[in-house]
Amino acid sequence: MNLRRRCLAAGLCVLAASASLAQSAWPAKPVTLVVPFAAGGPTDVVARTLGVSIGKTIGQTVVIENKLGAGGTVAAAYVARSAPDGYTFFIHHNGMATSTALYRKLSYNALTDFEYVSQAVEVPMTMLARKDFPANNFQEFAAYVKANQSKINLANAGLGAVSQLCGMMFERALGVKLTAVPFQGTAPAMNALLGGQVDILCDQTTQTIPQIKAGNVKFYGVTTKSRIKALPDAPTLAEQGLKDFEVVVWHGIYAPKGTPKPILDKMNQAIRIALKDPQVVARMTELGAEIVGEDKLTPESLQVWLKAEIDKWGPIIKATGTFAD
Ligand code: MLT
Repeated sequence: MNLRRRCLAAGLCVLAASASLAQSAWPAKPVTLVVPFAAGGPTDVVARTLGVSIGKTIGQTVVIENKLGAGGTVAAAYVARSAPDGYTFFIHHNGMATSTALYRKLSYNALTDFEYVSQAVEVPMTMLARKDFPANNFQEFAAYVKANQSKINLANAGLGAVSQLCGMMFERALGVKLTAVPFQGTAPAMNALLGGQVDILCDQTTQTIPQIKAGNVKFYGVTTKSRIKALPDAPTLAEQGLKDFEVVVWHGIYAPKGTPKPILDKMNQAIRIALKDPQVVARMTELGAEIVGEDKLTPESLQVWLKAEIDKWGPIIKATGTFAD
């Protein structure tokens, strides 16, 4: 073997040896879970609750890194470019799918630039208005919004957020166009709603249940097909006249493309354990989130699910004419 070939072979051997050492020793330091929205909001709550439990299983802290901006696409682009060394993971929701239709240009490909780990929880949404909004039930709310659309604003967490998706579906159902006020997450959007600076917010129960129960907001219904256990008396928007209205938030966990499979498998196992952890189950139940079934806990099912969601929402979003360059 000539020298060049020997060096190449040796180099590859060293690389292979260090890769397998990294995998067997994983995790040798804290693992980062990137959250695409503001701290204290719905995605952050899910990430932190899971993160504590995952950390116990893998024997290292899971550090939450909130990477904000552009409805979650800043974080997705960041993770797509991150080293596939097993120390960066990403939690995102429906926005992983809807952004592909909402943005004409993305610097990443949602389907091919990530490794899939697992789904985790599904979360209903709730339609809210500021406490002094002049409507005391859904019929009054819909009538007021229709009659005053030019004066009403709708908070969301940017194009690609589920608050934006829900708001867009609501506008479509009522045939109105409201003024969007984007925030970097629904944690700041909720603060603006509580402060009366914005009028309407469609947001996840993981953040809204405490505000609804405390009577801090007007609450007009849930976005699921059926009523939910966490708010059993609350009617759905569909049963109050918005035929077939349904927005359910699902969460996927991803890693940069090329993350070694043994690490992905260990993370998948840790997520499965977390989803059975009594503390996680209690917190999720309290916040209206439902832990997904076994069939949604494989990387393959997340991949199929994401593709189906892209195919489902793409044409709907295109028909609304909503997009960013
Ligand atoms: C958040 O965590 O702030 C939300 O998930 C944003 C959204 O998608 O509405």
